[in-house]
Order: sequence, then structure tokens, then C-alpha cells
Amino acid sequence: MSRLFAFLAFCSTTSAFAPSMTGNTRSSDLCMANPTKSVFLTPETAKACIECAGGTPLYAYSLEKLEESANACLAFPNAYGLTVRYAMKACPNSSILKYFSSKGIHIDASSGYEVRRAMAAGIPAEHISLSTQELPADFADLVDLGVKLNACSVSQLERFGKHYAGSGAKVGVRVNPGVGSGGFSKSTTSFSKTNVGGPSSSFGIWHELVTDGTVPAIVEKYGLSVERIHTHIGSGSDPEIWQQVATKSLSFCKLFPDVTALNLGGGYKVGRVEGETTTDLQLIGKPVVEAFRQFAQEEGRELKLEIEPGTFLVAMAGALVSTIQDKVITTGDDGHTFLKLDAGMTDVLRPSLYGAVHPITLFPASGNTGDVGDETESVVVVGHCCESGDLMTPKPGEPEDLAERALRKATIGDICVMDGSGAYCSGMSTKNYNSFPEAPEVLVGKNGETFLIRKRQSLEQIYANEIAVEV
Ligand SMILES: *Cc1c(COP(=O)(O)O)cnc(C)c1O
Ligand SMILES: *[C@@H]1O[C@H](CO)[C@@H](O)[C@H](O)[C@H]1NC(C)=O
Repeated sequence: MSRLFAFLAFCSTTSAFAPSMTGNTRSSDLCMANPTKSVFLTPETAKACIECAGGTPLYAYSLEKLEESANACLAFPNAYGLTVRYAMKACPNSSILKYFSSKGIHIDASSGYEVRRAMAAGIPAEHISLSTQELPADFADLVDLGVKLNACSVSQLERFGKHYAGSGAKVGVRVNPGVGSGGFSKSTTSFSKTNVGGPSSSFGIWHELVTDGTVPAIVEKYGLSVERIHTHIGSGSDPEIWQQVATKSLSFCKLFPDVTALNLGGGYKVGRVEGETTTDLQLIGKPVVEAFRQFAQEEGRELKLEIEPGTFLVAMAGALVSTIQDKVITTGDDGHTFLKLDAGMTDVLRPSLYGAVHPITLFPASGNTGDVGDETESVVVVGHCCESGDLMTPKPGEPEDLAERALRKATIGDICVMDGSGAYCSGMSTKNYNSFPEAPEVLVGKNGETFLIRKRQSLEQIYANEIAVEV
């Protein structure tokens, strides 16, 4: 794989955005020309991916888009050095891990299994940082290999301390700074599925336990050295709140004289459809540079900055390519035209889970741009599971409600491209529900060449671990 990436080192900078429409659309809006390109696929390249994978559904990843986002993260403003970590839970395929690694990006792992998976992909242990909700039983083996552990609860810190008592072992501390920010909620303190900071969140050590001396006492008791402070407040963070938290996080660094790096997590929003904005990393990073400089003046320590985006690095670099396998209508006031895909929540769960809106572009089955036509139709797009929640066009932010979308008028057999499916899709879905196999993955090179990076799962693989018992 690395040879492939070296070979494709050229980068162009188109950022064509899918002009798909969202929400309910009246028929008077239906006269716009149909798009002939999604974020990175044309009818021709979509068809090439289908041939490469031997059918649909499949995930396509754009090497060009991966490079664009990697370069943007590596240019994050910093005062005294930067480490970018890829939050691999967003899309854990080894080809993508290896690509980012070749760009000098390190890894943020969210479980012991992710650490082992990254190492199996050839990522050096020293390049992996682990912040987990469940401390693995073999955490010390990982740490001894060079993995950097961030204690995410008082009990994790205690367990680490007991194992390494008196050795001066280096550890990181993940702090819950008291506020959070999730993509689908305005509140910084209430519960939301993507908010991982504040009193409604179980992630990290509550900030008061850091400032009231509890954490420093544990560190002292076991003779540990806290070298990293870590905060991550949520996926889809509001830039203003993110900056506030960045400044607040520096105040935790003051309490531990050995701290050399502050990790500010990820959560940089990506606009998938019109009306959603993509975080300007240069803009949010600038005030943080100032804050690090001020800290250095006051404390005499030049802290290294770490960021660990998942979404930002991969969201727009991935698309789910499927086939419209059926079309049904209901009539009356609440009637709709439904397009059924040969994919669904088994591949992209975000619409059902969060009410997330993904751009959708429909191409003709022929894979010829010339056949796109200009007829449009207002439709509801659904997945293939026997589950009414398997909905691809929810009302924005409301997974319980559907919305119509004006799309190219399609027939059975046409191609559906669902963009913005690089992050939290192939890695997070109801895979194997209804016994649908995991979809294959195709990497699209800069000249449109296609490479199969994961095969379609076989039926046997779905039930391979089942054990027959006589009852
Ligand atoms: C999930 C996660 C990230 C990445 O979040 P994004 O919103 O995808 O950028 C970063 N750090 C930690 C600790 C995480 O759990
Ligand atoms: C990811 O891609 C590699 C090919 O580079 C493949 O061997 C591997 O099975 C894939 N892993 C997963 C789980 O997607």
C-alpha cells in the first residue's frame, strides 16, 4: 500500500461540493439541473468502483480528499510543535491508518482492541495514544510497548498507579472540563449523543477532582509523572466553546509541573450539506497559539500541542455507493415516493442515530454522465433493513421523522452516492443486521483509479463464530 501512496503523491485542490438539497422541497423547486458529480465521484468513477468491488453496496474513499484534510490538520497553528493524531474509530481500515501514518500523523485509539489493530497495521506503539472508556486488562503490556495512556477516570489512574507504583511512570490525564459540545445540541451541559464533556458526560476526570487536589494526591501517592493533559469535549464542537475549553485546559497544565503536551482532542465540525459549516482550523487555532505563548511566559514551559480529529480527516473523503433496488409509493396527504437502497443502517447509521443529513446524488445505472438528464423528483430514501428507522433522509436532527428530498428522477438499478460517509460509517453501523454482509471498501486514486482495500464479507464469515450446542 505504501508504494501506491508514494506513487500518487500529486495533489490537486478541487473542493467541489455536492449540490444536493435537503429538507422538504416543494415541486416548484424541482427545476434545477441535476448534479453530474458528487463530492468526488462522477457516474463514471462510481461505476468503476462498483466494478472494482464486484457490485454494491461499497464504501469509496478518495485519496485526494484524505490528503487535503491531512494537510489542513498538519498546518494547525501551534506555538511550540504539533502532533496530529487520527481518531481511528472514525474509520479504522488499515489502508487509511497507513496512509495517515505515511503523512506523519499519529493515532488516537479508543480501546485496547483499537491499539492492537493499529499495531497490526504497522503503526509503531509509540505513535499510539489510548483514551478509553474501558481500561483493558492488559493495559500495562501496551504501555510497556510504548503506547501512551491517558487516564480517563480516577479508578483508571489508581489502577495505573498501583501497577507502576514508585517507578515515576509517565501518564496522561483526560479531564472533563465541565462543558461540552455536540453537533446536534446547542447546550454545553445537557445530554446529547455526541457531547462528551460537561456534567451529563461520563468521559474524563471531572475537573473539580483535578483542582481540589484529588488527582494530584493520587499522582503523588504512586510517584507518577503526568506528562500530558487531554480534553475532548465532543464531536461537532462549537468553535467558540472549543476555544474556551482550550484556554481552560491550560490551567490544568499549571497543576502538573511535568506536563509537556496538551491534547485538545477532536470534534472539528465538517459541513456535509449546504448550511452546515466546516471548521476553519486556522481561525480556531490562532488564539490558542497566543494562549500557549502566554503560558510559556508565565510558567517557563513550552507545551507541545496535540489535536486528534476523526471526522475532520475522513468525513468528506468517503462515500457509500449503493444501488436503488426498489421504488414504492404511498398516496394521500402523507404519501411519499420511496427509493429503497441495497444498503442502509447496516452501512451508514448516522441518519437513524442522530438525524444526520448526508448529501445524496443519484446517477444513471449506465455510469454515463450523458444519461443524467434533468428530471427531478421529491423522494424519501430508505435502507434495506426490516426496520422503519432505517431511513437515509431524516428531518435534520430528528431521527424519528422523515423528510423528502429533491433528487434526480431515478429508476430501479440506478446508482446512489451518499457523501460525507467517511467518518463513523463503515466503522460504526449495525453491521450484519438482517444478515447483510459488511460492504467492501474501495480506494479511489487521484486519477480515478480504483483499488479494493476490503473484500465483501461472505455469509460464512457472518456466522463463523457461532457454536452449535445440544439443548
Ligand atoms: C472520538 C474522539 C475523537 C475524534 O472526534 P471527532 O469528532 O471525530 O473529531 C478525538 N478524541 C477522542 C478521545 C475521541 O473519543
Ligand atoms: C482494510 O484494508 C485492508 C487492505 O489494505 C484489508 O486487508 C483489511 O481487511 C481491511 N480491514 C478492515 C477491517 O476493513
